[in-house]
Amino acid sequence: MSIINVIRSRRNIKAFKPDEVAESDLLSWLEAASYAPNHRLTEPWEMKLLGPDTRARLNHKTDFGHAPVVLAVLSKQGSSAIERDENVMASACFVQNFLLAAHEEGVGAYWASLGALPQNREILSVPEDYDVIGVFGIGYPEDVPAVKPRTPIVSKLTRLP
Ligand SMILES: Cc1cc2nc3c(=O)[nH]c(=O)nc-3n(C[C@H](O)[C@H](O)[C@H](O)COP(=O)(O)O)c2cc1C
Repeated sequence: MSIINVIRSRRNIKAFKPDEVAESDLLSWLEAASYAPNHRLTEPWEMKLLGPDTRARLNHKTDFGHAPVVLAVLSKQGSSAIERDENVMASACFVQNFLLAAHEEGVGAYWASLGALPQNREILSVPEDYDVIGVFGIGYPEDVPAVKPRTPIVSKLTRLP
């Protein structure tokens, strides 16, 4: 697939097959994702692979679509408000790289934002100086939702003199 087709065809997946995802594949997509842009090379991303107890305690409405893998992505805040913002941006780039690398090999992800809630931060053992970017169910899609159309991009573009 061309990179454009990989980007355009990725979907947020909400139902997964039980088939395992090889940990070596997961690690290779995460390693590739770490080539994301990150200011001052802070590499602010950190991951936590969830075991069944942690996952059950999060009490997600569909148990992350029954994904075989659940991964939390955290972002280190750094030493200033600007660095914290930049680190979140870098971590989001990291996540998108990961999502595209996995998707290119047929593996989808369910992005859930519940990890940022105070009680869930505690369940995930998130240190105080970290933000939670998301908790991701990862696996082979059982069902791929239809594409959600986007706003024509020219309507988002203004030209400055
Ligand atoms: C920061 C962030 C948080 C998200 N949190 C959730 C979530 O809690 N639950 C959910 O179903 N989708 C969540 N999503 C996924 C979006 O809902 C999804 O990307 C959007 O509907 C567009 O669909 P697509 O990714 O299939 O194009 C999140 C996405 C982002 C970027």
